[in-house]
Amino acid sequence: MLRGDNHEWFSHDNMSTTGFSWFMRHFLITLKPKMKAHAVGYVFTDWRQYPTIAPIIESVGFRLNNLVIWDKTHFGMGSFYRNQHELIAFFSNGAPPKPQRRDIPNIIKAKNVYVKERVHPTQKPFELLKPIIEISTKVGDVVLDPMCGSGASCVSAKQLGRKYIGIDISPKYVEVSKTQILKFGTPLTIFQSSCQTPNNHKKGND
Ligand SMILES: C[S@@+](CC[C@H](N)C(=O)[O-])C[C@H]1O[C@@H](n2cnc3c(N)ncnc32)[C@H](O)[C@@H]1O
Repeated sequence: MLRGDNHEWFSHDNMSTTGFSWFMRHFLITLKPKMKAHAVGYVFTDWRQYPTIAPIIESVGFRLNNLVIWDKTHFGMGSFYRNQHELIAFFSNGAPPKPQRRDIPNIIKAKNVYVKERVHPTQKPFELLKPIIEISTKVGDVVLDPMCGSGASCVSAKQLGRKYIGIDISPKYVEVSKTQILKFGTPLTIFQSSCQTPNNHKKGND
């Protein structure tokens, strides 16, 4: 399911479309019973995976509500049409709640984190995560990021007065997240995940 030897599947499109589909369906099925009724969720993806991930979200029983575009405001890698955006599927566990802000369009402009400043290869900028958290939650609500990477969502949640739970399978990124959160003087709730990824998946474990 991985394209090369690099087991960081989230980096450089290293996971095949089939692998990503299997993994995300497995992940969302595990997540759904943990979510409250009307809780909202987001999957960050790209033009290649979106046609697959949208029906997977619905097949798990979630309601697909919108497609949000992250406009990075400048282009990056690529040759024919260099990449300037990412796609964010917005879904909910049942009907969505009332939005907490009404001034946010489905195109969010936010500069990517400078490569030299990144502590994770796919680190999201706070300027992208904060409006998403603000429109979706009230102060005191819990933001769960089950693949928190750099901990950017935890930091953003804390800065906005939300509680947060960050999970990552990689001990390295658990430490990175702790460090990032400590920089902002916040309490820690980071666990190491035991959920399988395709590269350690054994036949018959479905
Ligand atoms: C796309 S990155 C997330 C980046 C994050 N949004 C940020 O802003 O830094 C995906 C993360 O998921 C983690 N991961 C991969 N498989 C996982 C699993 N089965 N359970 C939990 N985390 C996992 C990886 O270690 C990686 O840090």
